[in-house]
Parts: sequence; C-alpha cells; structure tokens
Amino acid sequence: MKLRVRINGADHELEARTDESILDVVRRELGLLSVRETCGIGVCGACTVLLDGEPVSGCLLLAPLADGREITTVEGLGGDDPVQQAFSDAHAFQCGYCTPGMILTAKRLLEETPQLTEDDVRAAMSGNLCRCGSYVKIVEAVLQAANA
Ligand code: FES
Ligand code: FES
Repeated sequence: MKLRVRINGADHELEARTDESILDVVRRELGLLSVRETCGIGVCGACTVLLDGEPVSGCLLLAPLADGREITTVEGLGGDDPVQQAFSDAHAFQCGYCTPGMILTAKRLLEETPQLTEDDVRAAMSGNLCRCGSYVKIVEAVLQAANA
C-alpha cells in the first residue's frame, strides 16, 4: 500500500505492507533509526513514537493505522530540544538505547503536566524500560526539563 503520513514535519508517501509495523516502515523507508525494536510486544517503550502528539509503541502500530496522521520521532526534535538537552546535561543514559523513547514520552508528559513530582515522573515513564538502570538520572533529567 501507499502510506501517506507526515513525519517530523514533512509529508511522505511510503511503501508499506498492511501487516507491518510503523517501526519497520520508518526505519526501512526513511532510516529513522532512533525508533528501536527490543521486545516487539509493546512492553519496553524503545520503539516509542508520537502519533498525533501521543506516545505509542511503534512495534504495535500497524502501518495502515498511521495513514493520514502525523508521527514524530526523536530525529524531528532537532537536537536542541530542551528535553534532549536535559537528558544530556543530567547524563541520563548509559548505552542510550532507551533514550529516544524516554525523551518522547517525557515531552508529552511535560506538555500535559508542567508541574511534576518525582513520583509523577516515575509513574508516567513506567512504560519505558532502561536495561542499564539509569532511572535515577532519567527522572532527574525530566524534573530538570520541567523546571527549565
Ligand atoms: S519494541 Fe515496542 S514496546 Fe518494546
Ligand atoms: S541507557 Fe541503556 S537501556 Fe537505557
């Protein structure tokens, strides 16, 4: 099928099978390698993208369901995004594999809840797993971004 989707601010018409995930499509067709597969079953959050501004698991989102919609990946944030900067400043990663998904989830959280406690952050980010166990620094980064 032809998939018409706006990705990181640009309109695209992409080739996609009806049974594949948007994770596979954006990696193959556009080289957006920040969208990462780990569990493949909606548990870890490494594949998080924003779909019309809401975090979703790219591994579970069938490509046809993204037709006509808007997707944001961390490549679309431009590198000088305040949340990205906070993660960098707080050294909120080790291998960095989970980081794009963490940043996108944090961005949405900060949009809807600017005043956050540590417990709020931990609860809201619970769908994003970090195998390196960088949680203390990740929470610190999100709180830093909230107070910036
Ligand atoms: S790879 Fe999608 S949630 Fe783990
Ligand atoms: S920094 Fe390695 S998985 Fe999170």
